[in-house]
Amino acid sequence: MCGIVGYLGLNEKKEILLDGLQELEYRGYDSAGIAVIEGKKLHNFKAIGKLENLREKTKTYHSEGFGISIGHTRWATHGKPTELNAHPHLGAYSYVVHNGIIENYQELKHELQADGVTFLSQTDTETIVHLFEKNHKTTPDAFLAFEKTIQRLEGAYATLLITEAAPDTIFFAKQGSPMLIGFSKEDVYFASSDTPIIGKADEVYYLEDGEYGYAKAGEVKLFNAGGEKSFTKQALTSDKISAQKDGYRFFMEKEIYEQSRVMSETMIGRVRDESIYFEELGEDFFDGITSIKICACGTSYHSALCAAYLFERLAKVRCDVEIASEFRYKEPLLLKDTLFVTISQSGETADTLEALKMAKRAGLKSLSICNVDNSSIVRQSDAAILTRAGIEKGVASTKAFATQTMVLWMLAVYLGQTRKTLSSVLAKTEIDAMLHTPKALIVGDELHAKLHRLSKRYLHGHGFFFIGRDIFYPLALEGALKLKEISYLHAEGYPAGEMKHGPIALADSELFTVALMPRTMHYDKIKSNVEELSARDATILAISPEPFALADDFIQTQYATHPMLEFFEMMVVTQLFALEISVRLGNDVDMPRNLAKSVTVE
Ligand code: G6P
Repeated sequence: MCGIVGYLGLNEKKEILLDGLQELEYRGYDSAGIAVIEGKKLHNFKAIGKLENLREKTKTYHSEGFGISIGHTRWATHGKPTELNAHPHLGAYSYVVHNGIIENYQELKHELQADGVTFLSQTDTETIVHLFEKNHKTTPDAFLAFEKTIQRLEGAYATLLITEAAPDTIFFAKQGSPMLIGFSKEDVYFASSDTPIIGKADEVYYLEDGEYGYAKAGEVKLFNAGGEKSFTKQALTSDKISAQKDGYRFFMEKEIYEQSRVMSETMIGRVRDESIYFEELGEDFFDGITSIKICACGTSYHSALCAAYLFERLAKVRCDVEIASEFRYKEPLLLKDTLFVTISQSGETADTLEALKMAKRAGLKSLSICNVDNSSIVRQSDAAILTRAGIEKGVASTKAFATQTMVLWMLAVYLGQTRKTLSSVLAKTEIDAMLHTPKALIVGDELHAKLHRLSKRYLHGHGFFFIGRDIFYPLALEGALKLKEISYLHAEGYPAGEMKHGPIALADSELFTVALMPRTMHYDKIKSNVEELSARDATILAISPEPFALADDFIQTQYATHPMLEFFEMMVVTQLFALEISVRLGNDVDMPRNLAKSVTVE
């Protein structure tokens, strides 16, 4: 995810910006840039890749005296990681940096283009600076022009703007994306999180949604829809690692909570009212394709399993899924009318990459679904769809899984629409459900507290079975994997209907069954499967919108109008369940023993 820093004061600005951006590296980025106005002079530098490249480019530049400055690290979402797409974006005499997504940027862009503005980048951000300069023509007060600009923006933003028209002022606004203002005796800082200003500022103010204003030497003015606002600063923490976690105890916890937001980013520009659109895929991409083969490892394999149900059901295209390490050595039959899909969070998993190379050698067309642009798997594929989850630090994958599954669901609907196997009414139902997904992923305080309480009863026993049917079977596999990875307790995912063919022999009160019991998918079937286990005295944790009398513990879900909404809500429950058990057992949640985030060896 992108990072912002800003600084206003007398100290050397370049170093403050570069050091600040370095502190935001943990968020992930693929290009960076800074802009400084000192006196009336504007300086701007951008570089793709790591910050060292930007340091190299700026090595002979040092700012002098009072000035204003903004900097940014960009994680590509709209447009490739190129220098032109890197922030700060330039108008004729102003610069802007921005995190978030301007949802109505196409509309604004068309409007500005009609006025003769030329856009240099493919980003949504560039619209802000041009809109500001357009407004500035009719509204000479730069702050009023800025105010007018942000009133037109829809979506999420944290933005800083500097302009030669007001060379002593930084304009700022926040809606949806995080931003704070840091204060030291004489200087003012801006940043997307605490880390860049720790050790520099003494006090901080965390901006609320809808707040905007300006900073000048010794003066910060804050406004919201109600007019000017007073604000109270607070002391700044001095612990950088905890600051990176945005107040959460673990990166994994932060990433679970982020899922609602990143899911919106995954959908932006792709999910429209009536249809799905992928700018990454040419119109003829699926021509001649009659089946799909997906290869992946670990969590990504589970999203692939889920996709197989969706591709066959919604798009009527045959879909097989294989674990990449198995596929590589089985001498698979590879036919040219098969689309070869790889799914990977990191884009570097050795087995998945090798499977892709094999498929390419056999002449198959390839598509990757990945979280990291320019990774090996993305570069090797004919086409790639980025999941836009932002950097994932917890070794146990959460938001990457959620966004992979969302991309695959969108792809299934896209394919169903292009092949006309999905009626427009059914497509509309799927799209409506997609748009509700961010809500189903919001973590309620009560739910988290309940899972915390309940977790103490699940620290022993001789194992867990997560059970589900249909797409809830891969979710059961993923729920069990999460628990295994961070609690080190034995857990298996199983198709609920298969329990009676063996595993039920294990059933007793020390066998914990986590039952995924959606209302919208085979409820009665799974109910009987759980009853069979309960009759053998297994301890049942039921997750369902329907109250279930035989449950020892029960988590009631809310979204029961579409299987995928149930899927995502239950996914959050299983993730928090694993997290809370792991915490109680005193394990390292973010870096579980023996595991690596990116497995680049066979
Ligand atoms: C490792 C990670 C897992 C991940 C798997 C596949 O084992 O610990 O969380 O699911 O690799 O990684 P990928 O980056 O290809 O999704």
